[in-house]
Amino acid sequence: MRILITGGTGLIGRQLCAVLKTQGHELTVLSRHPETVAAMCGPEVRPMSSLDEWTSDRVFDAVINLAGEPIVDAYWSEKRKQVLLDSRVGLTEKLVQRIASAQQKPTVLLSGSAVGYYGNGVETVLDEAMAAGHDFPSKLCTLWESAARAAERSGVRVCLLRTGLVLSKRGGLLGPMLLPFKLALGARLGDGKQWMSWVHIDDYVAMVLRLLHDASLNGAFNMTAPAPVTNTEFTQALAKTLHRPALFVAPSFVLKLAMGERACLLLEGQRVIPKRLESAGFQFAHPELEGALQDLLK
Ligand SMILES: NC(=O)c1ccc[n+]([C@@H]2O[C@H](COP(=O)([O-])OP(=O)(O)OC[C@H]3O[C@@H](n4cnc5c(N)ncnc54)[C@H](OP(=O)(O)O)[C@@H]3O)[C@@H](O)[C@H]2O)c1
Repeated sequence: MRILITGGTGLIGRQLCAVLKTQGHELTVLSRHPETVAAMCGPEVRPMSSLDEWTSDRVFDAVINLAGEPIVDAYWSEKRKQVLLDSRVGLTEKLVQRIASAQQKPTVLLSGSAVGYYGNGVETVLDEAMAAGHDFPSKLCTLWESAARAAERSGVRVCLLRTGLVLSKRGGLLGPMLLPFKLALGARLGDGKQWMSWVHIDDYVAMVLRLLHDASLNGAFNMTAPAPVTNTEFTQALAKTLHRPALFVAPSFVLKLAMGERACLLLEGQRVIPKRLESAGFQFAHPELEGALQDLLK
């Protein structure tokens, strides 16, 4: 397949490119830094610096849309929120316009979203039928999804990737946690009761491949392992895997002071299950957290 990937230079995108290449697909990565694409994704991956390069006669069989400004990195001022929105919703709208004007349209668009769709601090077990929440991450995901869904009007199959906390040894959630935990400074966050809907990156990529190839699947999919854990359970599992104690607590008020509204990402969470992919028979290589951590940190 000829596949266009946005965000292909990111944590998930790089792993996805590596696997798609082994399957013989022809990859193009849209990047603000096209000169880095070869080093990040491989020399055979074609860089694209602007969607203007997608002329109406250029053919992509599939589009995977993962681009987005990092959500945790900076304080959520109104200006920052707009940057987060523009880099996801704005880019997705442009992508969908390109799809609509292509002479030969892709058959499928896989487009990013996050478990934040459901809002933070929800105790209920959440499958894909549950409603969106009301906080900023929820608004961001709702608008992002609705921009992608517009591609359905061009006859394109659209799958929305409601992504959980992707565990990878190359970065993401685990990256900044490893050093303090290795130094026996690992800490539970707040009361530790908040849910963490995690997924091993290999399972995540396998889910993306299933959605790419299975024409019977469309709509929203929770991209998480089937066994979410509380923050206390996550802290204990990581400490155990690294053979270190985790004796500390990062108090809620300190995190709220340091992070402002963003602290909801750490102190509140959601208990998400991948009901639709499991119903479709998807088998997880790493369904339990301890096994996933052992595999990643061995
Ligand atoms: N990793 C997770 O645990 C997780 C959880 C939930 C949702 N997600 C979502 O899944 C997507 C992929 O995640 P990831 O961890 O691979 O993200 P990542 O490592 O931060 O990479 C995202 C990519 O998006 C592009 N990007 C960043 N800012 C941009 C901007 N202002 N305009 C256009 N493109 C921009 C960058 O590509 P260039 O620099 O090459 O342009 C970057 O490589 C993201 O949208 C993320 O929000 C991830």
